Amino acid sequence: MKIPRHVAIIMDGNGRWAEQRGLPRSAGHRAGADAVSRGLAIAQEFGVEILTLYAFSTENWKRPAAEVGALMGLLVEFLTAKMPEMHRNGVRLRTVGRSSGLPEAARTALLNAVSASAGNGTITLNLALNYGGRAEIADAASRIAADAAAGKLDPGKVDEAVFAKYLYAPDLPDPDLLIRTSGEMRLSNFLLWESAYTELYVTDCLWPDFDRAEFEKALASYAGRDRRFGNHA
Ligand code: IPE
Ligand code: IPE
Ligand code: MG
Repeated sequence: MKIPRHVAIIMDGNGRWAEQRGLPRSAGHRAGADAVSRGLAIAQEFGVEILTLYAFSTENWKRPAAEVGALMGLLVEFLTAKMPEMHRNGVRLRTVGRSSGLPEAARTALLNAVSASAGNGTITLNLALNYGGRAEIADAASRIAADAAAGKLDPGKVDEAVFAKYLYAPDLPDPDLLIRTSGEMRLSNFLLWESAYTELYVTDCLWPDFDRAEFEKALASYAGRDRRFGNHA
């Protein structure tokens, strides 16, 4: 089976999963964190090189403070509990997004885990946190303008390849497959630049229920796609 090198996932549906069970939304997020560990193991087993997970968007700050706090707490808990095992399994942790805008405890736990796992190379787990596709493009434009003003960059030389070097993770290839759980047919500001030619897969499965069978269905769908990149068939 043709395996995507880079899989990106919009992990949606934690709230609905909890509501269906009469549980608080935070219980859905906790179940969602377990699905992250499971998904990572499956991706690794299938030989996916990069798994990018949308964990918190620049718009998610609009949620009630208690829910935001629960999500940030879960992030710290996840990193503390899972990093030793991920490290043993050769997982390299990275992050994209405005990490400077995260609460202190989350930022510290995240950046420590990123630097501690920098030498690993089996699979890259790229967590999108305080991430927005428009923010990423705006941040790139701002740094390009600064370099141009400082005389380090010729404005006439800014093309797609130069622009892409100013994105959050210029060394990572674009995602081959983008999965969204819980049925919503939208990108919600995820990887706007990078997903120009990414294959999309939407499943009604809620993120906490996303298991091996669901992952395999997404991979099988990808394997059957005809990627053209604007070329003829
Ligand atoms: C996704 O689940 C998790 C995050 C956005 C952090 P939601 O919390 O969006 O779940 P639904 O969409 O309300 O079901
Ligand atoms: C996208 O889900 C963000 C993450 C999964 C982190 P949302 O639940 O925030 O997106 P919308 O509001 O349904 O578009
Ligand atoms: Mg949602």
